[in-house]
Amino acid sequence: MTTTPRDDCLARDAQDPLAALRAQFVLPDGVIYLDGNSLGVLPAATPARVAQVMADEWGTGLIRSWNSAGWIDLPARVGDKIARLIGAAPGEVVAGDSTSVNLYKALAAALDLARDDAPQRRVIVSERDNFPTDLYIAESLARERGAELVLVDRPEDLARHLDDRLAVLLLTHVNYRSGRMHDMAAVTRAAHDAGALMLWDLAHSAGAVPVDLNRAGADFAVGCGYKYLNGGPGAPAFVWAARRHLDRMDAEQRWQPLAGWMGHAAPFAFTPGYHPALGIRRFTCGTPPVLAMAALECGVDTLLAAEPLGGMDALRAKSLALTGLFIALVQARCAGLGVEPVTPDEPAARGSQVSLARADGGYAVMQALIERGVIGDFRAGDPAQGSPDLLRFGFTPLYTRFVDVWDAVEHLREVLASGQWREPRFHAKAAVT
Ligand SMILES: Cc1ncc(COP(=O)(O)O)c(C=O)c1O
Repeated sequence: MTTTPRDDCLARDAQDPLAALRAQFVLPDGVIYLDGNSLGVLPAATPARVAQVMADEWGTGLIRSWNSAGWIDLPARVGDKIARLIGAAPGEVVAGDSTSVNLYKALAAALDLARDDAPQRRVIVSERDNFPTDLYIAESLARERGAELVLVDRPEDLARHLDDRLAVLLLTHVNYRSGRMHDMAAVTRAAHDAGALMLWDLAHSAGAVPVDLNRAGADFAVGCGYKYLNGGPGAPAFVWAARRHLDRMDAEQRWQPLAGWMGHAAPFAFTPGYHPALGIRRFTCGTPPVLAMAALECGVDTLLAAEPLGGMDALRAKSLALTGLFIALVQARCAGLGVEPVTPDEPAARGSQVSLARADGGYAVMQALIERGVIGDFRAGDPAQGSPDLLRFGFTPLYTRFVDVWDAVEHLREVLASGQWREPRFHAKAAVT
């Protein structure tokens, strides 16, 4: 009996040592979900856990649950779990706020440290194609503190700015548009060689690729809870600071600028004066969103469930196999149909998503795919910068199968080859793309 390439994918799924992890999720029938890089899927444990927090901990326990159900410890407890995914030690990560807010706090702390060590270090360097919120936050801090934000157009141009004016190099590890991944250790070393601090945004890395912040010697990091961590829409984010900075901030009684009561050394002393809590807890601000934290914890647990199976390294091996297969199939099956992978072929430079450049109708192509049950997303290009429209496909090894990759590429081929994407209904833009 002859086997088809699709059969080969089914065979790979049958042999996949991580296949059982898929049962942790609620995956709608008829959907191939390739957008875990934007919003992770619902873990099966989450609805019951959130219902329990509501009915028992809130409904019955009421305010007592801050102690009896450990609500007050959630930012640190969930932070410690996230730490296991990003090469951080217990007590170095707290969950809470959004990535944008955490970035504000961490970047401000880094700018203060840099300035106090060397007053001429007033420059923040980032990439023009970094996620806009990172650039807006950096710009707002630059305005506030008389610093300067410098943006480079290509990673190769970073080297030109590694000088004695540089305070903080602020980069997103895996680029949200292209899926290109920086070499965290090498870039951190280069920033340090220039005497600057390194701040990483792990929005597209935490739970997606192995990250080892401490081994890389990084200084600060922030990341997102609703993407690969499967924490749910608008899930709390997280912030990390290297132990050496936390120790110094302790010794020097340093603040971060959003000095809320939960980051106070003794929140329930209700004193009018602020004294920062020791360690990473100083980076918390207000009351933690308990329901959202409970959902985030369930999401993080879906990744920790992979630890006995090889953890992030095993997930990475499967992720590279999935993205590699997708790139190869697009090149073979969609040749001449106007889609071109822009994500690096080189595994070391590839995150867990693949982006395809499309000269025209990218939005409509994605809408046609979504109608067929293949859910990715679309990011418009910037003609002024010469950047193309992108179709983005995220591959989440916890639940994506090899046969999903095959089927998704076949749908893409059909949408393009038949011209189905030209149908007017695929061109109406919604508020969120
Ligand atoms: C790199 C990066 N940083 C930050 C964010 C979002 O930040 P926030 O959690 O504040 O919405 C995103 C969202 O897609 C992102 O891709």
